[in-house]
Amino acid sequence: VTRPLLDQFARRISYLRLSVTDRCDLRCAYCMPERMTFLPKADVLSLEELHRMALGFIDRGITKIRLTGGEPLVRRDMIELARALGRKLGDGLEELTLTTNGTQLITHAEALAEAGMRRINISLDTLDRAGFAKLARRDMLPQVLEGIDAALAAGLKVKLNTVALKGINEEEIPSLIAWAHGKGLDLTLIEVMPLGEVEEDRIDHYLPLSAVRDRLDAEFTLTPSDHRTGGPARYFDVAETGGRLGLITPLTSNFCEGCNRIRVTATGQLYPCLGGGEMVDLRGALRSVDPEVAMSEALDTAMRIKPERHHFEIDRRGAAPALPRHMSMTGG
Ligand code: GTP
Ligand code: 5AD
Ligand code: SF4
Repeated sequence: VTRPLLDQFARRISYLRLSVTDRCDLRCAYCMPERMTFLPKADVLSLEELHRMALGFIDRGITKIRLTGGEPLVRRDMIELARALGRKLGDGLEELTLTTNGTQLITHAEALAEAGMRRINISLDTLDRAGFAKLARRDMLPQVLEGIDAALAAGLKVKLNTVALKGINEEEIPSLIAWAHGKGLDLTLIEVMPLGEVEEDRIDHYLPLSAVRDRLDAEFTLTPSDHRTGGPARYFDVAETGGRLGLITPLTSNFCEGCNRIRVTATGQLYPCLGGGEMVDLRGALRSVDPEVAMSEALDTAMRIKPERHHFEIDRRGAAPALPRHMSMTGG
């Protein structure tokens, strides 16, 4: 790589989170409203554009690409994109992976493994069917559980992502961890982030992981692990289960100092930081007369403007979300 991506805080950017669609077949209450406004379909990049864009990133030293959404598997040509990117594995790209809600893995797990994915992250906030149907506003827990098994059967390693929610899954967290570890899966707890308007006030369900820690320490013996995935989670080994627990703590313990990532929306807007700041238009670059040069220049701009950190807070009832855009637009 001739010109690796370095931001003004000397952080090396090697991890691209690429949202292939902002649409989703679930409606998790903390994530998006039931009547969500999606990006105009006409603005969404084509498969060919996504592919060219990804190659431009790999040229600048991106070694890990995570396909995200919305729900990436609701996009019809998502498997084709995975196959095309899979061909870059070992040729600049070191890891190709996916974050999914799991509802369509029964159909697609095998193709993902064939495309070269080794491990994927699946969101699962509760094992209670009625609780799931209420939170996700779709009664699809059985499909998700079958999807997890389909991924394992296809030889994929699976990490579960669980957003910690007061009054929703708080009481279930220890048993979720035990269940996941019993199946040989890592599980990561996530603090809810104030992105985009939803029907509820997120403060009502915000659960700081510092508080969950006390509860977990009463039940489990956690030892800090040196396991690293290149994402924001900090990991602990759990003596009682033999499994690994990750904590993602944007609100109670900032991890931006070690940031190595950027994200792009399905319409080709690059957001240097999840926490806000200006975006860079890659779609325009891709459609310009000299796309390769334009794209590389756009990435230089992104490195100049990448903020030092986010300033998320959930501390005041009735406060507007830190950002107007939802997590589903940038895939986190
Ligand atoms: P690994 O490769 O397994 O480490 O995955 P990951 O944690 O990087 O990705 P995943 O898609 O599983 O994201 C888990 C959670 O972390 C999601 O809620 C994301 O929104 C959140 N997340 C990922 N990157 C960032 C980030 O840069 N800042 C913040 N605040 N949250 C992030
Ligand atoms: N705060 C924290 N996590 C969120 N997710 C979606 N919206 C939010 C939010 N506002 C989670 C999903 C999934 C991961 C990619 O992001 O549940 O696990
Ligand atoms: Fe990086 Fe911004 Fe996420 Fe912090 S909030 S880890 S700086 S992308």
